[in-house]
Amino acid sequence: MKVVKIVRTLCLVHFALCFCFFSFAQDDHPFVLDVPYVPTPDIVVEKMLQLAEVNGDDILYDLGSGDGRIPIAAAQRFGTRGVGIDLNPERVREAKSNASSAQVTHKVEFIEGNIFDLDFSEATVLFLYLFPEVNMKLRPRILDMKPGTRVISHNYDMGDWKPERVEKIKAPSGTEHTLYLWRVPPNGKIEIID
Ligand SMILES: C[S@@+](CC[C@H](N)C(=O)[O-])C[C@H]1O[C@@H](n2cnc3c(N)ncnc32)[C@H](O)[C@@H]1O
Repeated sequence: MKVVKIVRTLCLVHFALCFCFFSFAQDDHPFVLDVPYVPTPDIVVEKMLQLAEVNGDDILYDLGSGDGRIPIAAAQRFGTRGVGIDLNPERVREAKSNASSAQVTHKVEFIEGNIFDLDFSEATVLFLYLFPEVNMKLRPRILDMKPGTRVISHNYDMGDWKPERVEKIKAPSGTEHTLYLWRVPPNGKIEIID
């Protein structure tokens, strides 16, 4: 009788623990963003596409793609194939819906995932609007990409890697934006800022 009681108690405890864990998993955010969502103003997106000389032969990746505006704009303007990666499922849903409204779903793909886990090495042009330390963490992987790959970063540099160009632009709201362009060098041999 005592054994039955113990088994019953253990089952109840087990059930209670499972229930608590499930509730926690439901309530808790299953992801931690490295960078919050701040969309790039459309006029700045336009300038970034120009600076990178994006064209219809490119494969564009936007790491942390938000509502998908950069791959969508490139697909609309130039027919560029684009991939956006974002860790936030809400952003990915929004980007897919925006691609559908813009009628470019055959050109763009939005993947829910972590930029540190997913492969972006097929890109010929890479867009970043992250944080300086996130750029630096990605830098070794970027330097492993095909030589000539263009890398455009909104507002944040990449440590001592000298950019080929730096452009400043003011959005209609008055915010100032700095854009950086690099080209992946052969053998990862970067030019260092003096
Ligand atoms: C500053 S927003 C840039 C959005 C878009 N690229 C733009 O320029 O409009 C950064 C985006 O990165 C996403 N993000 C943050 N950490 C991430 C990670 N580790 N992997 C994938 N996406 C991430 C956020 O959800 C957010 O949408």
